[in-house]
Amino acid sequence: MNKNGAAYRAARPGEETAVSNLVARSFNEFIAPDFSEEGVEEFFRYANPRSLKKRSEDSHFVLVAEAEGEIAGMIEVREMKHISMLFVDKSHHRKGIGKELLRLALDRIKSANSPPASVTVHSSRFAVPFYESLGFTKTSEEKIIYGVIHIPMALALPEGRILRREDSTRQEIYARRNKSPV
Ligand SMILES: CC(C)(COP(=O)(O)OP(=O)(O)OC[C@H]1O[C@@H](n2cnc3c(N)ncnc32)[C@H](O)[C@@H]1OP(=O)(O)O)[C@@H](O)C(=O)NCCC(=O)NCCS
Repeated sequence: MNKNGAAYRAARPGEETAVSNLVARSFNEFIAPDFSEEGVEEFFRYANPRSLKKRSEDSHFVLVAEAEGEIAGMIEVREMKHISMLFVDKSHHRKGIGKELLRLALDRIKSANSPPASVTVHSSRFAVPFYESLGFTKTSEEKIIYGVIHIPMALALPEGRILRREDSTRQEIYARRNKSPV
């Protein structure tokens, strides 16, 4: 599916290095400058291709956005309830790719056998306005664990601005057709 100049799909086995390279580029520019050495090491223990592969074979899923033949963005979700990574290449920021990756991940979470009451994320400092703009709220003050700086946030399901926007579009369409949205 194409949107905002990118195609979205599940990550394929064998793409771990390409995905991990995108994550590393973005992390080094937007997040690492605030981290201690310990935090950077801890992050790469998590974000390296081998760890990514292992988690994908276990309880995580990864979606990617592809633009101009390159991986332009990625989202990783743990156990259908926690966003463990979300990165968009700098050259593609503010085109709606992060929002679309999140929307697709939420669709997948909501269609799980027993969807969670909320989705959580440990946001970077940089990404707080992004998550807030999409309805997430802070659930605690900033934390630093093993040098990893993060702000715990959550989005209650099925609410959230992304979903409300879609609902209002749907209601407009139904209103135009003079039919009930139910
Ligand atoms: C956070 C990130 C994934 C957002 O991806 P993106 O594709 O640029 O975001 P979108 O274009 O979908 O943005 C959707 C909305 O979020 C808000 N937003 C996004 N980036 C923002 C920023 N830097 N500052 C303020 N608001 C922002 C805006 O409201 C935006 O809508 P608008 O562009 O119409 O105003 C991307 O900036 C990124 O990879 N950052 C570095 C890595 C990072 O911090 N990842 C999060 C780890 S938890």
